[in-house]
Amino acid sequence: MSTQTPDWSPSSWRAFPALQQPEWPDDSSVDVVLKQLRDWPPLVFAGEARELQRQLGAVSRGEAFLIQAGDCAESFESMGANDIREKLRVILQMAVVLTYAGGVPTVKVGRIAGQFAKPRSSDTEHRDGVELPSFRGHIVNDIGFDPDSRVPRPERLLEAYNRSSSTLNLLRAFTRGGFADLRRVHAWNKEFVADSPQGQRYEEMARGIDKALEFMSAIGIETESDPRLHESELFTSHEALLLGYEEALTRKDSLTGDWYDCSAHMVWIGERTRQLDGAHVEFFRGIKNPIGCKVGPTADPDEVLALCEALNPERIEGRLTLISRMGAEQVGERLPPLIEAVRDAGHPVVWACDPMHGNTFTAKSGRKTRHFEDIASEIDGFFAVHRGAGTWAGGVHLELTGDDVTECLGGSTLVGDGDLDIRYETMCDPRLNARQSLDLAFRVAELLHP
Ligand code: PEP
Ligand code: CO
Repeated sequence: MSTQTPDWSPSSWRAFPALQQPEWPDDSSVDVVLKQLRDWPPLVFAGEARELQRQLGAVSRGEAFLIQAGDCAESFESMGANDIREKLRVILQMAVVLTYAGGVPTVKVGRIAGQFAKPRSSDTEHRDGVELPSFRGHIVNDIGFDPDSRVPRPERLLEAYNRSSSTLNLLRAFTRGGFADLRRVHAWNKEFVADSPQGQRYEEMARGIDKALEFMSAIGIETESDPRLHESELFTSHEALLLGYEEALTRKDSLTGDWYDCSAHMVWIGERTRQLDGAHVEFFRGIKNPIGCKVGPTADPDEVLALCEALNPERIEGRLTLISRMGAEQVGERLPPLIEAVRDAGHPVVWACDPMHGNTFTAKSGRKTRHFEDIASEIDGFFAVHRGAGTWAGGVHLELTGDDVTECLGGSTLVGDGDLDIRYETMCDPRLNARQSLDLAFRVAELLHP
């Protein structure tokens, strides 16, 4: 049965102020591109989005844990099979650790196959007396600091669609084709533990997983023959920032008559575009996908409750994930009033912790970075607040890559300020490398299973 949102259509956002939209050189070429996109097939299917919402419903009830992770900004230049495989590999490895520790299923969602658009704090960037439009992600313009690179080009919307499509295709193949086999993922984790300076701390958990696998095998459960152990499921997500693009991929589900944004399974509203009277909230209230909304330190309880009412008036479990990004120093003070207000109002949200965006600073070298200990400490604080409120710390939202980059400081391999230049490759925010990501997974595991 269709549950149409009153006074809403995929284009109704156009009557509201839309922040962070590019200034395309001329409207007619964007219109041509958007028309083309409207004719192209959906990237994901409504039924898949509903399945993710069902799983997130379990997270909202404290019966599952969410890991949402991937690039800050995907790059058109690094979307080869290896990049995608390594990112998937690290997320699968983290999920095994979290599932074992939490004793509940881990729902895996990538910031992947569409995470191309970036909100910026300033419309322009200054360097050595030169001012140019800011880089807004590969779906809009290019990162080079020259006038030609920074021109917003509508054809990039088509390229973003095509890149998303090929990434999704490969993810579907990897997750179904044996790459995600539990024994194999666990073997990678054992290698990590054996090589890790923190290894001893993690060994006990790795041994526990070994024992669980041995037990399953002893009673006749073989990973290769059981799809639950041999295959995996990674849903896709991105910040739905460019509303024209999202509108063009919003389709009516033939089964239910409902509207779904078929650019990804889940989409979220960023910290800079969550105004209640803004175009993003208008667009999101009518699509039926599971959605997220970032909440930073300036959010107050009334505002968060108003967002819950606007975005999930029917209080559907799994529909809304609130992604808290307070910063390690502020989480203990700013988060409790929000959680208590949402809890007391009976809104069934998933609470996830983004420990990245409140902990960014510029290092002495001039590089934008984050310290592993700040990231871990915000997660500690997030769990402590939930323990205090009697609510479920539902998940983590991370920026990471499978590569051996040096963008965040610390972790067991102790990336220092002087190391940042060795492999600093992000197009936007600093990401955890594969080792730091696994370190963090084991730290979160200790919180899930103290
Ligand atoms: C992001 O997730 O990359 C981002 C820009 O976050 P936020 O909206 O929380 O600042
Ligand atoms: Co970011």
